[in-house]
Amino acid sequence: MLLSISPTPHASSGLLVLPLFSDSFAKTSHNTSLAPLPPALEKTLRPLLLQEKFSAKAEQSFLLHMPQGLPQPRLLLLGLGEKALLQNDKLRNLLGNIVKTAKKLNAPKVSLLWPETLCTPDNIQAAAEGAVLGSYSFDKWKSQKNPAAPPKSLQFVCKTHPPRLRQLQTALSLGQRIAQAQNWARALTDEPAHSLTPLALANAAKTMALQHGLKARVFGRNALKRLRMGMFLAVAQGSALEPQLIELRYEPKSPVHKKRKPLYWVGKAVTFDSGGLSLKSHSGMLGMHADMAGAAAVMGAMQMVASLRPPFPVVALLGACENMPSHKAYRPTDILISRMGKTVEVSNTDAEGRLVLGDLLCLAAENKPLAIVNLATLTGACMVALGHSIAGLFGNNETLLAHLEKAAQQAGEKIWRLPLCEIQKEELKSDVADLKNTGDGYGGAIHGALFLREFVQETPWAHLDICGPSRSLHPSGWKHKGATGFGMRTLLALLEQLPTA
Ligand code: BES
Ligand code: ZN
Ligand code: MN
Repeated sequence: MLLSISPTPHASSGLLVLPLFSDSFAKTSHNTSLAPLPPALEKTLRPLLLQEKFSAKAEQSFLLHMPQGLPQPRLLLLGLGEKALLQNDKLRNLLGNIVKTAKKLNAPKVSLLWPETLCTPDNIQAAAEGAVLGSYSFDKWKSQKNPAAPPKSLQFVCKTHPPRLRQLQTALSLGQRIAQAQNWARALTDEPAHSLTPLALANAAKTMALQHGLKARVFGRNALKRLRMGMFLAVAQGSALEPQLIELRYEPKSPVHKKRKPLYWVGKAVTFDSGGLSLKSHSGMLGMHADMAGAAAVMGAMQMVASLRPPFPVVALLGACENMPSHKAYRPTDILISRMGKTVEVSNTDAEGRLVLGDLLCLAAENKPLAIVNLATLTGACMVALGHSIAGLFGNNETLLAHLEKAAQQAGEKIWRLPLCEIQKEELKSDVADLKNTGDGYGGAIHGALFLREFVQETPWAHLDICGPSRSLHPSGWKHKGATGFGMRTLLALLEQLPTA
């Protein structure tokens, strides 16, 4: 999709869109907010809008065909709600909806009469993100493709002058590239597990690294044995597919920056989670091809890192494997020896994410990083606690947690802090080993986080349990029914929060 900013709408656009604030719409008897339209059209519109009870409240829309005096064949009025309540989050959804509407109406060119007050780099970036995110669909496995395609071009019509225009164009392009990376992460996540195997994920990472100037290294089973990753290997051993530890690395050019402590991003990349011998139910297993959403979000973020050029190295570690039952599968009651040396009794083979991540976190911590942030679809319990749109945030470092909260807010992704409760740590005690991999009873999201904490030692560390928000159950705003790429934009916003010296 070609995104642009220009002072006048193209006459050849198939759809002209006018977003309106409810407060300015209600207050003006002369409806100055309709001012961009020709007076004659305004006159015919007003009684129609009154009849339809259009008040420009959020998500209200009104479509007019063959608007009088306009070269464009359709005019879409959209409610933005109150000016003061409008956040970037809503702009993303607004643009997502516009793109979806244009797709339905088969309009290849869209012109958007952009409100003056929203002509800021921040708003434009969010809007661009929403447009590109809204154009995503997952139809590669359909033999009959939907003939309706998202618009080829979308034009923000606003009057600005050169220095400011350049600023807005930079923001537009940044938002577009971020959303493209996020759509790439969504496509990896939506891909079924027979196709997106651990090896396929590793290959996707290598190809991406080559395109974006990152270093990639991949370690297979033998290397994992040499790395003594007993927990990761155990999860993978029931599958016919070889596990892959994927490392992506960004290094700043400046020799001073290159020597700084790296930031580590760690992602769960279980390409299919059947539960293993602690087999999931039929319905519990649906959607488990997306159990690598954490890794996909990290990979999407890495794609952007090389162009955002933070003044410190960034390293991604992704643990890719399948969790399958078989004659070779690890068993409940097995005792594993982790890379760190701690022994772990397997109380449930379905709590596999924390086993994979535990070994990865240990490896990351050995490199004495600036901080570690891990993203994982770790527990259904986190979804029970926070629902489908909020991720659980855990960690051992107040400053890092505060940075992440700020980053998430800036990125328009909802996260909420949950406690690492010491009482519940008792519940991870094993009779026969140092730890077991599940706790008893309620508070499962906390058990998962407490388990991970055992492997990071003193390193500042945060864990985002993205089980709920990593997928959307219904299409809405910019989302489709499927992967969201959640967490990627928070990771990118974090780069700006961290101290640069
Ligand atoms: N991958 C699942 C978590 C999950 C559940 C992701 C639903 C997306 C949707 C994870 O590996 C898992 O199975 N967790 C168990 C932990 C339990 C055995 C302690 C769970 O949540 O039931
Ligand atoms: Zn899982
Ligand atoms: Mn599981």
